[in-house]
Amino acid sequence: MNILVTGGTGYIASHTAVKLLAAGHQLVLVDNLANSNIAVLDRIALLSGQKPHFYQADIGNYAALSAIFTAHQIDAVIHFAGLKAVGESAQKPLHYYRENVAGSLQLLEVMQEFAVKSLIFSSSATVYGDPRELPLTEQSPIQPQSVYGRTKWMVEQIIADHCSADPSFSAVCLRYFNPVGAHPSGLMGEDPNGIPNNLLPFISQVAIGRREQLSVFGNDYPTADGTGVRDYIHVQDLAEGHRLALKLTHTPGCHRFNLGTGSGVSVLEMVDAFRAVSGHPVPLIICPRRTGDVAACYADAAKAQHELGWQAQLNLTDMVADTWRWQQLNPQGYQTPPAKLKEKL
Ligand code: NAD
Ligand code: UD1
Repeated sequence: MNILVTGGTGYIASHTAVKLLAAGHQLVLVDNLANSNIAVLDRIALLSGQKPHFYQADIGNYAALSAIFTAHQIDAVIHFAGLKAVGESAQKPLHYYRENVAGSLQLLEVMQEFAVKSLIFSSSATVYGDPRELPLTEQSPIQPQSVYGRTKWMVEQIIADHCSADPSFSAVCLRYFNPVGAHPSGLMGEDPNGIPNNLLPFISQVAIGRREQLSVFGNDYPTADGTGVRDYIHVQDLAEGHRLALKLTHTPGCHRFNLGTGSGVSVLEMVDAFRAVSGHPVPLIICPRRTGDVAACYADAAKAQHELGWQAQLNLTDMVADTWRWQQLNPQGYQTPPAKLKEKL
């Protein structure tokens, strides 16, 4: 298929791109580079032996999008582009609604104009908010607690309404749990700007000595060791989930799937796993809870297994080992000079 990938140079999209190229798909990547580095394209080319088309463009830009749809015969769109920082979304709600909601609307309108009838959308487990029941199924109550979470739920609703109005349109909303890990080559991974908000990138920067210690946000949750429990999923498994979701390209309607492993890992368990794999110390201090955090969140991913034939294959050690390899090979993320990388490979 000819697939347009929005947010194509981002963390999850870049791993998905390598997987899709290996499966024989043709890709057109579009990204405004708001949160990614152009160097990702060379890494994709190195890993796949192919350089996909790339446009530096904003999905909110009608002229740019329609020029791309005119230049390429697109069969399906995988829509990763968006902003994802929960804290920032509270400070800049209008910006988040414009980028995530209005941007998605613009994309859907251009797809409609060019009669492109198939979409995969990056949603998030954050739409469930504070779980009333665990594990979370696709039927669990929706109650997003942040502006970011509300943008994801609004887009899901817009997509569902569009599917109702156009019975030939097929959409798959993938609700990711906590994506972590990196490509096993160590050539691609997560490269957060500034201080990482998320647990694994933070631990990894502590282990390599870029940060002094990890702040553990609360050890008084009603969990086995008192720290927060999450369903971490390897980005390579997520990438495979997108490949399999393309099966539904010709099945009209709005399909929703949880993509998670189904098991929870606590903050302290993650720290222990990192110490064991890296052999480095991870100093930590216990701090108050972070506002908006929930005690535990993990998926029931049975629907993805039954309907897509998808199941997470990689375990916690894989997640940590691949993150660590990426961190060691790219101490400055994608800013690491290629010469230094070659020395280490
Ligand atoms: P990312 O920031 O690495 O990737 C998003 C990409 O979209 C970036 O390259 C960014 O430059 C681009 N982008 C942002 N706004 C754009 C716009 N208006 N036009 C064009 N490009 C734009 O993030 P990621 O972790 O790869 O996440 C991908 C998607 O998955 C996002 O929609 C995110 O909300 C969703 N998601 C991520 C997580 C996670 O923890 N990483 C969890 C659940 C859902
Ligand atoms: C966060 C977002 C969520 C988003 C997800 C994507 C919040 C409130 N939620 O989820 O909307 O979909 O990222 O991956 O920001 N922790 C520490 N110290 C740290 C960082 C994290 O103890 O420095 C703890 C947290 O309290 C939590 C666990 O580690 O218990 C995981 O945190 P994180 O990686 O930020 O993910 P989520 O909070 O699940």
